[in-house]
Amino acid sequence: MKKNIRDCVAAIREKTDFVPRVALTLGSGLGQYAAQVRVVCEIPYQELAPYGFPVSTAPGHEGRFIFGYVGETPVVCMKGRVHLYEGYDTEQVVMPVRVMRALGAEILFLSNASGGINPAYPVGSLVLLSDHISSFVRNPLIGPNDPEDGVRFPDMSCAYDGQLRALVKEAAKACGIDLYEGVYVQLTGPSFESPAEIRMLGRLGADMVGMSTVVEVIAARHLGMRVACVSLISNLAAGISENPLTSEEVEEAGREAEPRFSALVTRAISMMRSDAE
Ligand code: HPA
Repeated sequence: MKKNIRDCVAAIREKTDFVPRVALTLGSGLGQYAAQVRVVCEIPYQELAPYGFPVSTAPGHEGRFIFGYVGETPVVCMKGRVHLYEGYDTEQVVMPVRVMRALGAEILFLSNASGGINPAYPVGSLVLLSDHISSFVRNPLIGPNDPEDGVRFPDMSCAYDGQLRALVKEAAKACGIDLYEGVYVQLTGPSFESPAEIRMLGRLGADMVGMSTVVEVIAARHLGMRVACVSLISNLAAGISENPLTSEEVEEAGREAEPRFSALVTRAISMMRSDAE
């Protein structure tokens, strides 16, 4: 484990001995999710900045870890995360995942917003990731490998855990929510894609496109975490929609989907109580 990760963990351990089972990133559509958590402790990222922890450049973007319970499941939520397009390198973007793993989290549950490429996805739908395409971003594992963390060449053939996917589908059914399944591709952004890029990505096998997640998933799999991710289709990707894309549209879709998205996440995480789930 790298020194900066150890330092962050030591700083957190001075405040709480809470051991999370699930690490949850709150993307667009889950921005208010912290209200669903029985909070035990909160730590602003700012307090970890001296150890190299990335703090978002967006003004008024108060990032913090929230420790608590969803049902009986101990979780650590990331409220706010940094993106490659802010200028952080891949290593910094995955640092929070490594810290949450070192605090004890065994499962990484990610949420994000994406543009729909698959014409079967209506705006506002929720899609469970079955696989990803990482080829357009720098791999977070480039550099020396510590064998204590994981193997040099980690397998990505089952990046999204089969058992967890079955569990999330069951949770969606119980909540009466339609859940699609598909392949996510991460690009760096910050510009949205051109229509020609979307046609290319569709031909390569992508069902949806976004600016986050895949680098975190690779880092988490390297560390032996089990991973699940649900994406909110906040807009139709460029050229599929006739309208120009705006970040306001993405945020509006997030607000509209929040009750459904929250219900699904709460049900799914409550079911992740033990290895026997
Ligand atoms: N493209 C990339 N990232 C996104 C999009 C999109 O259309 N929508 C939400 N995040």
